[in-house]
Amino acid sequence: MTSVTIPAGDLYTKVQHVIPEAEWGVFADDAEAILRLKAERNAVILAHNYQTPEIFYGVADIVGDSLKLAREAQEVDADVIVLAGVHFMAETAKLLNPAKTVLTPDPMAGCSLAASITADDVRALRAQHPGVPVVTYVNTTAAVKAESDICCTSGNAVRVIESLGVDKVIMLPDEYLARNIAKQTGVEIITWAGRCIVHEQFTPRDIAQIRAENPGIVVLAHPECSPEVVAVADLAGSTAQMSDYVADRQPKQVALITECSMSDNVAVANPDVEFIRPCNLCPFMKRITLAKIRASLETMTTEVTIDPAVAADARRAVERMLAI
Ligand code: 13P
Ligand code: SF4
Repeated sequence: MTSVTIPAGDLYTKVQHVIPEAEWGVFADDAEAILRLKAERNAVILAHNYQTPEIFYGVADIVGDSLKLAREAQEVDADVIVLAGVHFMAETAKLLNPAKTVLTPDPMAGCSLAASITADDVRALRAQHPGVPVVTYVNTTAAVKAESDICCTSGNAVRVIESLGVDKVIMLPDEYLARNIAKQTGVEIITWAGRCIVHEQFTPRDIAQIRAENPGIVVLAHPECSPEVVAVADLAGSTAQMSDYVADRQPKQVALITECSMSDNVAVANPDVEFIRPCNLCPFMKRITLAKIRASLETMTTEVTIDPAVAADARRAVERMLAI
C-alpha cells in the first residue's frame, strides 16, 4: 500500500508553497487529532487525488484515482475505512470490503454524474437495446452498478470495453467520456447525457489561450472533458495517469485540465515543474475537510451502507472490472 502519512508537525514544510501560513494553525490541530484517532479506531484514510493538500499529504494513508482507491479498499486490513472523496467512492469501498466499517465525512459529497442516472433509466436503455452490454462508469450509485454488466473508470475504460469483444456497448452515464473512449476503441457506443459539472466547463478556447500565453506548455486533460477539449490536449488520462505523466516526464510547464487540488498535490511532489492552473473546483469533493474527517472519526459517522437488494449485483460489476 502507498503510505503518505507524515507527522503533523513536519507537515507544513511539505505543503508550505500551496497552503498560506495563516491557514495552517487551524489545519495542524485537526491533523494531529486525526492521526491520534486513526490509531485509536484502527482506521485508514483513503483520499482521492482531488482532496486538498492538507488531507492528501497530512492524514491520508492511501491516495490515488478511483481505480487505485477501489483496488486498495479491497486489501484494507484495518477495521475502519474513511473515504476522503465523494460518495460513490465510499460506496465502492464498502462493496469491495463489506466487513469493514466505511465512513464518509460528508454524505452530501455527491457527483453530478452519479446524480444523472437511475436504475430505472438503465433498465429502460437495456429494453431499447436488447443484448447490448452495459458498461458503467464507477461514478454511479450502487443501484445503477447493479443493473450493469461491468464497471470502468477513466483509467481502464478502453481495456474494459475491448475485453468484451463486441462491436457495440452502452456506456453510462458520462457522454463525454463515452465519446472520447469511442474514438480510441472503434466500438460503437450508445451514450447517456450525463456530464461532470467540473470538466464540462473547459473549452478549446481555454486551451488555445493557455498555449498562446505559454509556448511549449504540456496540456493534460481528464477524459470527462468534451471531445473538443481532449482533441487539443497533448494527452487525456485519469487523475493517476496525469500525475504519473508529470512525475515521469518532468515537463518544464504543464496545465492539468481538471479539478484544482490536483495541481496543488502534483506540484508538491514535482517542485521543478511549473504549473499553469486553469482549474475548476468540484463542490462535492470540497465538502470533505480535515474538520469533517476528524468529526467522522470522533463520532464514527456517517457509516456507508448498501441496500442488500443491490449489493451482490453491484459488487459483481465492480469485481469483474478489477479482474481485467
Ligand atoms: P479518476 O478516476 O480519474 O480519479 O476520476 C474521478 C473523478 O471523479 C474525476 O472527476
Ligand atoms: Fe463528479 Fe466531476 Fe466532481 Fe469528479 S469532478 S466527483 S466527476 S462532479
